[in-house]
Amino acid sequence: MDIKKELFGKLANGEEVDLYILTNDNGLEVRITNYGGIITSLKTPNRKGDFADIVLGHDRLDGYLENNSPYFGAIIGRYANRIAKGRFALGGAEYKLATNDGANHLHGGDKGFDKVLWKAEMIRDDQGVGLKLTYLSEDGQEGYPGNLDCTVIYTLTNADELKISYEAQTDKTTVVNLTNHSYFNLAGHDGGTVYEHLLQVNADNFTPADDTLMPIGEISPVKGSPLDFTSPVAIGSRIERVEGGYDHNYVLNGYDGSLKPAGSVCDPASGRAMEVFTTEPGMQFYSGNFLDGSIQGKGAVYDRHTGFCLETQHFPDSPNQPDFPSTILEPGEKYRQTTIYKFLVK
Ligand code: BGC
Repeated sequence: MDIKKELFGKLANGEEVDLYILTNDNGLEVRITNYGGIITSLKTPNRKGDFADIVLGHDRLDGYLENNSPYFGAIIGRYANRIAKGRFALGGAEYKLATNDGANHLHGGDKGFDKVLWKAEMIRDDQGVGLKLTYLSEDGQEGYPGNLDCTVIYTLTNADELKISYEAQTDKTTVVNLTNHSYFNLAGHDGGTVYEHLLQVNADNFTPADDTLMPIGEISPVKGSPLDFTSPVAIGSRIERVEGGYDHNYVLNGYDGSLKPAGSVCDPASGRAMEVFTTEPGMQFYSGNFLDGSIQGKGAVYDRHTGFCLETQHFPDSPNQPDFPSTILEPGEKYRQTTIYKFLVK
């Protein structure tokens, strides 16, 4: 196992950005930059042992700075997903956030955690090699209350897991919901649409949303609808029946805050498969609906449905939905979440 670092580029203000390259004993390789905590590349073998890069992204920092990166591979915060009208109330105070998705707030606002430089520290221990990223989001930043001290640790293990641990502490009551926004294509990032991938999600329910993708506050069964992935189904087999494609928050079965299987994906042609485990109550399945071929990364053109995201998270708009699991963090408490993406061949 190894971890090394190289220069990735410079920000407009001259600050240097690094790229960390983590490898395990089986040859898996993950590249992560401390700009946005972005996973830029992830190489895993197919059933013949041939490696491919299975995440969409860029091989140059500029690709991410150009401002049209749809959150490729990044850490999302302070609040992953949407907050209605960019408003919420806490302890009698009303907070106003950026409305960067029509009338709503999305993925932390104008300059979320995907667009900031994190402090990085390389870790080598008996679990694997890791990258510890820390960032202090100041009181009032993007409109959110409280100084929020965040730590995200990426660990690559010899069991072919990429483990992401999130921690945060605040000095004022606030809301937190962190995730990672990797777009996967198990055929390879340049492998075309993900229609043939078989997806399974451990969720009997989802949170129905309005036409701005904002939850209406209900929890409804997936049974009998094209959203039902309780057994493995090809992503493309019913996608035409879902207006706009998949972009839904699944309510994971049996949530109790412990690490549980959330789902799995397999690309039958290559044999590459991925299992997802999380401590979170929800998972957004997004089928890359807004990719339209206008972004080129790592030599590929990223067209509609050429990558999928499985964003483990609390439910969208929880700060305004009293019946959803709470995203409130109080001073003295510790926010702690873990998600594992485990890679295998079938
Ligand atoms: C959301 C999509 C959004 C995308 C941005 C996903 O997490 O669910 O609606 O367009 O992020 O890339």
